[in-house]
Amino acid sequence: MKSRVLFLAMAVVFAFASSGMAAPIVIKFSHVVAVDTPKGQAAEYFKKLAEERSKGAVKVEVYPNSQLYKDKEEMEALQLGAVQMLAPSLAKFGPLGVREFELFDLPFIFDGYGDLHKVTEGAVGKKLLSKLEPKGILGLAYWDNGFKVMSANKPLRTPADFRGLKMRIQSSKILEAQMRALGALPQVMAFSEVYQGLQTGVVDGTENPPSNLYTQKMHEVQKFVTASDHGYLGYAVIVNKKFWDGLPADIRTILDDAMVDATKYANDIAKKKNDEDLASVKASGKSEIIILTPAERAEWKKALVKVHEAQADRIGADLIQEVYQATGFKK
Ligand code: LMR
Repeated sequence: MKSRVLFLAMAVVFAFASSGMAAPIVIKFSHVVAVDTPKGQAAEYFKKLAEERSKGAVKVEVYPNSQLYKDKEEMEALQLGAVQMLAPSLAKFGPLGVREFELFDLPFIFDGYGDLHKVTEGAVGKKLLSKLEPKGILGLAYWDNGFKVMSANKPLRTPADFRGLKMRIQSSKILEAQMRALGALPQVMAFSEVYQGLQTGVVDGTENPPSNLYTQKMHEVQKFVTASDHGYLGYAVIVNKKFWDGLPADIRTILDDAMVDATKYANDIAKKKNDEDLASVKASGKSEIIILTPAERAEWKKALVKVHEAQADRIGADLIQEVYQATGFKK
């Protein structure tokens, strides 16, 4: 089997060499979500633009759904150069040593996509991406997903409803603090394991934007989904710096332009996709959707905004102030 693969690989190299064509530059783009999500669709769109505009000089291989690597492994793979491009959630940069990205996890810090874009497209957004360079990583763009729902097998209407529940979180200390502020027991778990974790009762509940909940079928193993919009989940598109810097200048320009267009595409479809997927969860009849009353939401906010101050040392009080100034945040 191995010798057959080797033979085929050699035949491909030989075919390129004898045709006078250079072998394409391959970009392996690994991610953990389904194809039919804002990130999955944007990755496919980037692939299309990059391959068309480079006239085949670049080949983008997209590996969705943790096919190639799970959350933690994909960061290591990028640094080692085993993959060239990722779009991890902003909640997953702590283990890399860049914990400032966790500011995006602060509950209720953004009142909607408008507030969020003031940060991702402004000075704070740029500053955060530049913190990746000493790690051998270049940050190219921010891609939206959306605002999170909470789910469990019991209705989650007030902070007291969370008491004692094991809630799956991404690897962010801010999310850990958020769950603790609700009296829940946070449990870090790779995204690829969440469905099974919920199904078997290893965890009782979780949070994610509707697009992730629906495409992973989490709603089939959660009886209640609260449309709380209590926090944001989005991505930074990152590349291995050595690889990117080593690209021919004309190719890099094509890819940078393709990324600008793919980012616009991602951010154009994100809200619509999440709205549609929440509607699909409802239509499935498998989970009941809970809409908080303004008074209930105010109670959540009161319990959770405390996390900003309590976690100021982790993120940086100045950085949090910069975000407040950019968005006009009021407690
Ligand atoms: C999660 O782990 O819940 C998310 O970060 C998955 C993703 O990439 O959207």
